[in-house]
Amino acid sequence: MTNQYQPLLDDFTFDNGISLKNRVVMAPMTNFSSNEDGTVSESEVNYYIRRSKGAGMVITACAYVSPSGKGFPGEFGTHNDEMIPSLRRLAESIKKEGAKAILQVFHGGRMCPPELVPEGDVVSASAVAPEQQTPTGEQPLPRELTDEEIQSIIRDFGESARRAIEAGFDGIEIHGANGYLIQQFFSPHSNQRTDRWGGTIKERMAFPLAVIDEVKSAVKKHAKEPFLVGYRFSPEEPETPGITMDETLLLVDELAKKQLDYVHVSLMDFWSVPRRGVNDTRSRMEIIQERVGSKVPVIGVGSIYSADDALKAIKTGVPLIAIGRELIIDPDWVQKIEEGRASEIQTKLKKDAQHELVVPDALWQAIINTPGWFPIEENQ
Ligand SMILES: Cc1cc2nc3c(=O)[nH]c(=O)nc-3n(C[C@H](O)[C@H](O)[C@H](O)COP(=O)(O)O)c2cc1C
Repeated sequence: MTNQYQPLLDDFTFDNGISLKNRVVMAPMTNFSSNEDGTVSESEVNYYIRRSKGAGMVITACAYVSPSGKGFPGEFGTHNDEMIPSLRRLAESIKKEGAKAILQVFHGGRMCPPELVPEGDVVSASAVAPEQQTPTGEQPLPRELTDEEIQSIIRDFGESARRAIEAGFDGIEIHGANGYLIQQFFSPHSNQRTDRWGGTIKERMAFPLAVIDEVKSAVKKHAKEPFLVGYRFSPEEPETPGITMDETLLLVDELAKKQLDYVHVSLMDFWSVPRRGVNDTRSRMEIIQERVGSKVPVIGVGSIYSADDALKAIKTGVPLIAIGRELIIDPDWVQKIEEGRASEIQTKLKKDAQHELVVPDALWQAIINTPGWFPIEENQ
């Protein structure tokens, strides 16, 4: 009997030869549960093991590339070679279950809580405080980075790529989304520089593109086997001034020239439409897929819970679908579809299921204490 969800289960091969067993990707999700010293914790490893049997590819929580970029309490690091054994443990645990393991790397920039970075020295493209709060509730006024410091952070991204290779990951995802440092350089809100790193849109792209070049050259130098390099971005910002959809389309044109293995659009809702910048009533995902989908594979994401949600999304032509919250709610999501049991998929979190679902304490507390973030089963 044919499976109506087969388009989600077909394998997928990237241009560099790496194959995924299906089209489902676990979205990167911070879990606040790493050790104080930046190493990955036991509970975190178990959480990934529980979710790595089904998806073709698992993207880890974002990990900081420099000590000045730690953006969350309980985040793990890629900032020095001492982290390699811990990174290796994570990569091996994911791969052993059958998924490809991708390390997401970032620098938090002005979204870093001051108490998490050396001397409370929060840095960004320019000295502009964020309109949103850091995970610990502050809105720090950052210090503008010097040219030399910018180059040093770019090198840190390259070093993190080398460590990811040495640790056995199958690839790295550069986190250029969700308002962190890379996006802060692209954003006219946070980047008010007038040197080579800011000013025109071309200059605002200089930092993201330099990070990509550095990571790609580290991969060329150190990888002995095919290694994926992806890039994640957010299509628009709510701030004024802020990134608009037309600016994002110019960025994706440049990304498509960089021979990335994929680009990953960060959205909470796959079907959300542009806020401003283009006269197009289609979803942001469809617009981006049309713009660059023939040049670079696009990963779509956002509020996909049921198998039908995912099927509808993949029918837009986007080759890979990432799933975040739903894989916390139901770690057997892919297996249920494979086994013809899609109707048994849980789409609401059960409040008493933390241990059954293997979710670390800090992540579970964050979910339960943030109303409206996850769909939660009522009447329990
Ligand atoms: C608990 C949690 C942590 C997240 N952490 C990250 C992160 O570290 N990096 C990132 O790029 N996106 C992060 N996101 C965003 C998700 O990757 C995803 O884009 C978003 O949740 C929408 O997808 P979903 O509806 O399938 O959850 C996080 C989301 C959640 C729910």
